[in-house]
Amino acid sequence: MSATIVSSWNEFDPLKHVIVGRADHTCIPPDEPATQAKIPEDSDMRGMWGPRPLETVEKANSQLDTLAGVLENRGIRVDRPSPIQWNQAVHTPDFSTGSQFGCMPPRDVILTVGKEMLSAAMSFRCRYFEYLAYHDLMQRYFDEDPAFRWEQAPRPRLSDRSYKSGYFDEITIQDRLERAAALDFVTTEHEPLFDAADVCRLGRDLFCQHGLTTNRRAMEWLQRHFPDHRVHAINFPGDPYPIHIDATFVPLKPGLIINNPNRRLPQDQRKIFEANDWEIVDAAPPAHAQPPALCYSSVWLSMNCLVLDHQTVIVEASEVHQMEQMDQLGMEVIPVEFRDAYPFGGGLHCATADVYREGSCEDYFPNQVRGTQIRR
Ligand code: NVA
Repeated sequence: MSATIVSSWNEFDPLKHVIVGRADHTCIPPDEPATQAKIPEDSDMRGMWGPRPLETVEKANSQLDTLAGVLENRGIRVDRPSPIQWNQAVHTPDFSTGSQFGCMPPRDVILTVGKEMLSAAMSFRCRYFEYLAYHDLMQRYFDEDPAFRWEQAPRPRLSDRSYKSGYFDEITIQDRLERAAALDFVTTEHEPLFDAADVCRLGRDLFCQHGLTTNRRAMEWLQRHFPDHRVHAINFPGDPYPIHIDATFVPLKPGLIINNPNRRLPQDQRKIFEANDWEIVDAAPPAHAQPPALCYSSVWLSMNCLVLDHQTVIVEASEVHQMEQMDQLGMEVIPVEFRDAYPFGGGLHCATADVYREGSCEDYFPNQVRGTQIRR
């Protein structure tokens, strides 16, 4: 095995080393202030909590193992997290909750920026200790790469002050859309809160989705933490449940992004992309009318692909329209079945976290445009 190098500056340079999640012991967590707002009203998950059925865990793990095998066969090193018993309750001085979640989606927790891997300050109480599943890997990278920066964002307190109480009581989809458009979310600005999956890494620029899982204070924290980067706040008013950017705004290669047509980037926020000759194209429609049972995410996991390099992308095998669009955009498509893994935390991008992509920190946006940068 080659010596570990930690380095990744974007979502598309050649992937050499990646973490692929595991479904073991995954639970549906009980309601808490952060999650009530995030489970769609018509979801079959409302009111349910506890360990997921074993046969669904086994099917999800089988697809995760297949993904790991496909990557390894292409010469990409794959590491796996160490699941803990996620059905354990969490008690801190500020809150208690009945169970935890899982470690299928490392993308939510770990933000890799250059030589750093940063555990996010997540807003779900049930995900407070999720970073522990990656602790052994971090320790190993720390020992093997003398320049690796092992970092942790400020641990949030997640007291009631971090959430707007009763905020989503009797709320309609229309109300949700109006509040999302007005940047009015269930999480408050009391402390920095973010999920790593809300951050789209494009070299010197980090584009962060302001939504249910990431607030402005976190973006200010990220800007201070990464002083050589430019941190941008972007939002997608058409999404009633804005959680994680990677089924909404997905870069495929330098200069090209697919955008969910139901969640288009507002015109004023597109200017920075236009000024630097980036093309934003509508993503193809999903092949499915419904997500799988007990799934948190929408059918738009169709666009939650894993880019291996500027010409190659892994797409879920049943997403015929998305595969065809990738082909038309000049990408070689590797189909991988993954819908049994979706309920455990998302799609192919969610289920992975970068350790090493070749390439360096490019400035893709030399023409900065006012309006999105956290600091002007
Ligand atoms: N919240 C997104 C999924 C992000 C991976 C969606 O449900 O479309």
